[in-house]
Amino acid sequence: MSESRDAAGPVESAAAAIRAHVPVPPEALLVLGSGLGSLAEAVRDPVELPFESLPGFPATGVEGHAGKYVAGTLEGRRVLVQAGRFHAYEGHPAELVVRPIRIAAALGIGTAILTNAAGGINRQLDPGSLMLLDDHLNLMSLSPLAGPVQPGEVRFPDMSAPYDAELQELALQAALAEGIPLVRGSYVAVLGPSYETPAEVRMLERLGADAVGMSTVPEVITARASGMRVLAFSLVTNRAAGLSSDPLSHADVVEIGKSAGGKLEKILRRVVRALP
Ligand code: HPA
Repeated sequence: MSESRDAAGPVESAAAAIRAHVPVPPEALLVLGSGLGSLAEAVRDPVELPFESLPGFPATGVEGHAGKYVAGTLEGRRVLVQAGRFHAYEGHPAELVVRPIRIAAALGIGTAILTNAAGGINRQLDPGSLMLLDDHLNLMSLSPLAGPVQPGEVRFPDMSAPYDAELQELALQAALAEGIPLVRGSYVAVLGPSYETPAEVRMLERLGADAVGMSTVPEVITARASGMRVLAFSLVTNRAAGLSSDPLSHADVVEIGKSAGGKLEKILRRVVRALP
Protein backbone atom coordinates (compact mmCIF):
# COMPACT_ATOMS: atom_id res chain seq x y z
CA MET A 1 0.00 0.00 0.00
CA SER A 2 1.45 3.39 -1.00
CA GLU A 3 1.95 6.21 1.46
CA SER A 4 -0.57 8.39 -0.35
CA ARG A 5 -3.18 5.65 0.11
CA ASP A 6 -2.38 5.45 3.81
CA ALA A 7 -2.69 9.19 4.08
CA ALA A 8 -6.09 9.16 2.36
CA GLY A 9 -7.43 6.58 4.83
CA PRO A 10 -8.92 3.17 4.04
CA VAL A 11 -12.36 4.50 3.05
CA GLU A 12 -11.11 7.05 0.56
CA SER A 13 -8.44 4.76 -0.91
CA ALA A 14 -10.96 1.93 -1.52
CA ALA A 15 -13.46 4.46 -2.94
CA ALA A 16 -10.76 5.76 -5.30
CA ALA A 17 -9.96 2.19 -6.43
CA ILE A 18 -13.66 1.57 -7.17
CA ARG A 19 -14.05 4.93 -8.97
CA ALA A 20 -11.19 3.96 -11.27
CA HIS A 21 -13.33 1.05 -12.55
CA VAL A 22 -16.79 2.58 -12.02
CA PRO A 23 -16.61 6.23 -13.03
CA VAL A 24 -20.37 6.97 -12.83
CA PRO A 25 -21.64 6.70 -9.24
CA PRO A 26 -24.12 3.85 -8.68
CA GLU A 27 -27.60 4.79 -7.48
CA ALA A 28 -27.87 2.15 -4.78
CA LEU A 29 -25.75 -0.21 -2.71
CA LEU A 30 -27.21 -3.71 -2.33
CA VAL A 31 -25.73 -5.80 0.46
CA LEU A 32 -26.39 -9.53 0.06
CA GLY A 33 -26.42 -11.70 3.18
CA SER A 34 -25.72 -15.41 3.75
CA GLY A 35 -26.81 -17.57 0.82
CA LEU A 36 -28.24 -14.58 -1.10
CA GLY A 37 -25.24 -14.09 -3.36
CA SER A 38 -27.01 -15.16 -6.58
CA LEU A 39 -28.31 -11.64 -7.29
CA ALA A 40 -24.69 -10.59 -7.86
CA GLU A 41 -24.66 -12.89 -10.90
CA ALA A 42 -27.71 -11.12 -12.37
CA VAL A 43 -25.93 -7.76 -12.71
CA ARG A 44 -25.53 -6.65 -16.33
CA ASP A 45 -22.21 -5.38 -17.68
CA PRO A 46 -20.62 -6.45 -14.40
CA VAL A 47 -17.39 -5.01 -13.09
CA GLU A 48 -16.19 -7.42 -10.40
CA LEU A 49 -14.01 -6.18 -7.61
CA PRO A 50 -13.04 -8.90 -5.10
CA PHE A 51 -12.61 -7.42 -1.63
CA GLU A 52 -9.01 -8.57 -1.45
CA SER A 53 -8.23 -6.50 -4.57
CA LEU A 54 -9.17 -3.29 -2.75
CA PRO A 55 -6.66 -1.47 -0.55
CA GLY A 56 -7.12 -2.29 3.12
CA PHE A 57 -9.68 -5.09 2.66
CA PRO A 58 -9.08 -8.58 4.06
CA ALA A 59 -10.80 -11.55 2.31
CA THR A 60 -14.05 -12.64 3.99
CA GLY A 61 -13.99 -16.01 5.61
CA VAL A 62 -17.60 -17.11 6.08
CA GLU A 63 -19.09 -19.88 3.95
CA GLY A 64 -21.90 -18.46 1.80
CA HIS A 65 -20.31 -14.99 1.71
CA ALA A 66 -18.33 -14.47 -1.49
CA GLY A 67 -16.64 -11.18 -0.57
CA LYS A 68 -16.77 -8.98 -3.65
CA TYR A 69 -18.36 -5.92 -5.11
CA VAL A 70 -20.12 -6.19 -8.46
CA ALA A 71 -20.95 -2.91 -10.16
CA GLY A 72 -23.26 -2.72 -13.15
CA THR A 73 -26.95 -2.40 -13.90
CA LEU A 74 -29.93 -4.24 -12.52
CA GLU A 75 -33.35 -3.52 -13.99
CA GLY A 76 -31.75 -0.66 -15.85
CA ARG A 77 -30.49 1.05 -12.68
CA ARG A 78 -26.85 1.52 -11.70
CA VAL A 79 -26.10 -0.61 -8.65
CA LEU A 80 -23.15 -1.58 -6.53
CA VAL A 81 -23.80 -5.07 -5.21
CA GLN A 82 -21.83 -6.12 -2.15
CA ALA A 83 -21.81 -9.91 -1.93
CA GLY A 84 -20.58 -10.80 1.52
CA ARG A 85 -19.83 -8.63 4.50
CA PHE A 86 -17.48 -8.36 7.45
CA HIS A 87 -19.05 -9.47 10.72
CA ALA A 88 -18.12 -8.37 14.21
CA TYR A 89 -18.22 -12.04 15.29
CA GLU A 90 -15.25 -12.75 13.00
CA GLY A 91 -13.27 -10.49 15.30
CA HIS A 92 -13.29 -7.59 12.86
CA PRO A 93 -13.33 -4.11 14.38
CA ALA A 94 -16.60 -2.20 13.97
CA GLU A 95 -14.77 0.19 11.65
CA LEU A 96 -14.20 -2.63 9.11
CA VAL A 97 -17.74 -4.00 9.55
CA VAL A 98 -19.16 -0.66 8.35
CA ARG A 99 -16.37 0.38 5.99
CA PRO A 100 -18.31 -0.76 2.88
CA ILE A 101 -21.12 1.62 3.88
CA ARG A 102 -18.68 4.51 4.30
CA ILE A 103 -17.15 3.65 0.92
CA ALA A 104 -20.63 3.73 -0.65
CA ALA A 105 -21.27 7.11 0.97
CA ALA A 106 -17.90 8.38 -0.32
CA LEU A 107 -18.93 7.26 -3.82
CA GLY A 108 -22.05 9.42 -3.52
CA ILE A 109 -24.49 6.49 -3.22
CA GLY A 110 -27.63 7.74 -1.49
CA THR A 111 -29.52 4.48 -0.92
CA ALA A 112 -28.50 1.32 0.92
CA ILE A 113 -30.55 -1.85 0.58
CA LEU A 114 -29.43 -4.48 3.06
CA THR A 115 -30.33 -8.14 3.39
CA ASN A 116 -29.57 -10.71 6.02
CA ALA A 117 -30.38 -14.21 7.17
CA ALA A 118 -32.20 -14.28 10.50
CA GLY A 119 -33.90 -16.55 12.98
CA GLY A 120 -37.65 -16.08 13.30
CA ILE A 121 -38.93 -15.18 16.75
CA ASN A 122 -42.39 -13.98 15.74
CA ARG A 123 -44.47 -17.16 15.19
CA GLN A 124 -45.65 -15.78 11.82
CA LEU A 125 -42.09 -16.01 10.53
CA ASP A 126 -41.72 -19.56 9.27
CA PRO A 127 -38.41 -20.67 7.75
CA GLY A 128 -38.27 -19.33 4.20
CA SER A 129 -40.40 -16.27 4.96
CA LEU A 130 -39.38 -12.65 4.53
CA MET A 131 -39.46 -9.74 6.95
CA LEU A 132 -39.20 -6.07 6.09
CA LEU A 133 -37.31 -4.23 8.82
CA ASP A 134 -39.21 -1.28 10.20
CA ASP A 135 -37.15 -0.93 13.38
CA HIS A 136 -34.31 -2.63 15.21
CA LEU A 137 -32.68 -3.27 18.56
CA ASN A 138 -28.92 -2.99 18.84
CA LEU A 139 -27.83 -5.67 21.33
CA MET A 140 -24.39 -6.15 19.79
CA SER A 141 -22.79 -4.08 22.55
CA LEU A 142 -20.97 -2.00 19.98
CA SER A 143 -21.52 1.18 18.04
CA PRO A 144 -19.69 1.73 14.77
CA LEU A 145 -19.80 5.46 15.50
CA ALA A 146 -17.79 5.36 18.74
CA GLY A 147 -14.68 7.44 18.19
CA PRO A 148 -13.99 10.55 16.15
CA VAL A 149 -16.80 11.71 13.86
CA GLN A 150 -16.05 10.53 10.32
CA PRO A 151 -16.24 12.84 7.30
CA GLY A 152 -19.82 13.38 6.17
CA GLU A 153 -21.32 11.86 9.33
CA VAL A 154 -23.12 13.46 12.23
CA ARG A 155 -22.19 12.89 15.87
CA PHE A 156 -25.68 12.03 17.13
CA PRO A 157 -27.77 10.59 14.30
CA ASP A 158 -31.52 10.50 14.80
CA MET A 159 -32.69 6.88 14.83
CA SER A 160 -36.41 7.49 15.25
CA ALA A 161 -37.08 6.25 11.69
CA PRO A 162 -33.99 4.34 10.52
CA TYR A 163 -35.81 2.53 7.70
CA ASP A 164 -37.06 4.84 4.96
CA ALA A 165 -40.88 5.00 4.84
CA GLU A 166 -41.08 5.59 1.08
CA LEU A 167 -38.73 2.69 0.32
CA GLN A 168 -40.67 0.43 2.70
CA GLU A 169 -43.83 1.29 0.80
CA LEU A 170 -42.10 0.39 -2.48
CA ALA A 171 -41.03 -2.95 -0.99
CA LEU A 172 -44.54 -3.76 0.23
CA GLN A 173 -46.00 -2.90 -3.19
CA ALA A 174 -43.33 -5.04 -4.88
CA ALA A 175 -44.15 -7.99 -2.61
CA LEU A 176 -47.88 -7.56 -3.28
CA ALA A 177 -47.29 -7.46 -7.04
CA GLU A 178 -45.26 -10.67 -6.80
CA GLY A 179 -47.75 -12.36 -4.47
CA ILE A 180 -45.01 -12.87 -1.88
CA PRO A 181 -45.91 -12.40 1.79
CA LEU A 182 -43.76 -9.68 3.41
CA VAL A 183 -44.36 -8.73 7.03
CA ARG A 184 -42.92 -5.72 8.81
CA GLY A 185 -41.01 -6.30 12.00
CA SER A 186 -38.18 -5.42 14.35
CA TYR A 187 -34.77 -7.04 13.92
CA VAL A 188 -32.49 -7.56 16.87
CA ALA A 189 -28.76 -7.69 16.21
CA VAL A 190 -26.64 -9.79 18.54
CA LEU A 191 -22.89 -10.34 18.35
CA GLY A 192 -22.96 -14.14 17.92
CA PRO A 193 -21.34 -16.29 16.67
CA SER A 194 -23.08 -18.83 18.89
CA TYR A 195 -26.78 -18.96 18.19
CA GLU A 196 -29.04 -17.89 21.03
CA THR A 197 -30.18 -20.07 23.89
CA PRO A 198 -33.93 -20.64 24.29
CA ALA A 199 -33.88 -18.34 27.36
CA GLU A 200 -32.22 -15.61 25.30
CA VAL A 201 -34.84 -16.00 22.59
CA ARG A 202 -37.62 -15.63 25.22
CA MET A 203 -35.87 -12.46 26.43
CA LEU A 204 -35.54 -11.06 22.90
CA GLU A 205 -39.22 -11.77 22.27
CA ARG A 206 -40.18 -9.85 25.40
CA LEU A 207 -37.99 -6.96 24.26
CA GLY A 208 -40.04 -6.73 21.09
CA ALA A 209 -37.88 -8.49 18.51
CA ASP A 210 -39.47 -10.38 15.63
CA ALA A 211 -36.26 -11.76 14.13
CA VAL A 212 -32.67 -12.16 15.33
CA GLY A 213 -29.40 -11.99 13.43
CA MET A 214 -25.74 -11.02 13.63
CA SER A 215 -25.40 -8.19 11.13
CA THR A 216 -27.08 -5.20 9.47
CA VAL A 217 -27.59 -2.90 12.47
CA PRO A 218 -24.04 -1.43 12.50
CA GLU A 219 -24.40 -0.78 8.78
CA VAL A 220 -27.79 0.87 9.23
CA ILE A 221 -26.46 3.10 12.00
CA THR A 222 -23.54 4.19 9.82
CA ALA A 223 -25.70 4.74 6.75
CA ARG A 224 -28.06 6.93 8.78
CA ALA A 225 -25.14 8.88 10.23
CA SER A 226 -24.26 9.95 6.70
CA GLY A 227 -27.86 10.55 5.65
CA MET A 228 -28.27 7.55 3.33
CA ARG A 229 -31.76 6.17 2.87
CA VAL A 230 -32.00 2.62 4.17
CA LEU A 231 -34.16 -0.36 3.35
CA ALA A 232 -33.54 -3.80 4.85
CA PHE A 233 -34.93 -7.31 4.62
CA SER A 234 -34.48 -10.46 6.66
CA LEU A 235 -34.75 -13.85 5.06
CA VAL A 236 -35.89 -16.08 7.89
CA THR A 237 -33.83 -19.26 7.62
CA ASN A 238 -34.91 -20.98 10.84
CA ARG A 239 -37.07 -20.66 13.90
CA ALA A 240 -35.02 -19.07 16.66
CA ALA A 241 -33.63 -21.45 19.29
CA GLY A 242 -36.20 -23.17 21.46
CA LEU A 243 -39.08 -22.49 19.07
CA SER A 244 -38.57 -25.74 17.18
CA SER A 245 -37.01 -29.06 18.09
CA ASP A 246 -34.44 -28.82 15.27
CA PRO A 247 -30.86 -27.87 16.20
CA LEU A 248 -29.50 -24.80 14.36
CA SER A 249 -26.76 -25.15 11.77
CA HIS A 250 -25.06 -22.65 9.48
CA ALA A 251 -25.37 -25.14 6.60
CA ASP A 252 -29.19 -25.05 6.96
CA VAL A 253 -29.10 -21.23 7.11
CA VAL A 254 -27.19 -21.10 3.82
CA GLU A 255 -29.41 -23.80 2.25
CA ILE A 256 -32.69 -21.99 3.08
CA GLY A 257 -31.08 -18.74 1.95
CA LYS A 258 -30.43 -20.35 -1.43
CA SER A 259 -33.84 -21.97 -1.80
CA ALA A 260 -35.93 -19.00 -0.60
CA GLY A 261 -33.59 -16.27 -1.83
CA GLY A 262 -35.37 -16.19 -5.20
CA LYS A 263 -38.42 -14.59 -3.56
CA LEU A 264 -36.32 -11.81 -2.12
CA GLU A 265 -34.58 -11.38 -5.46
CA LYS A 266 -37.95 -10.75 -7.16
CA ILE A 267 -38.84 -8.08 -4.63
CA LEU A 268 -35.40 -6.47 -4.83
CA ARG A 269 -35.60 -6.25 -8.62
CA ARG A 270 -38.92 -4.42 -8.44
CA VAL A 271 -37.68 -2.11 -5.72
CA VAL A 272 -34.53 -1.26 -7.68
CA ARG A 273 -36.55 -0.63 -10.85
CA ALA A 274 -38.83 1.78 -8.97
CA LEU A 275 -36.17 3.57 -6.89
CA PRO A 276 -36.95 7.30 -6.57
N1 HPA B 1 -29.86 -16.37 15.28
C1 HPA B 1 -28.92 -15.45 14.94
N2 HPA B 1 -28.52 -15.26 13.69
C2 HPA B 1 -29.08 -16.01 12.74
C3 HPA B 1 -30.06 -16.97 13.00
C4 HPA B 1 -30.47 -17.16 14.36
O1 HPA B 1 -31.34 -18.00 14.68
N3 HPA B 1 -30.41 -17.54 11.83
C5 HPA B 1 -29.66 -16.90 10.86
N4 HPA B 1 -28.87 -15.98 11.41
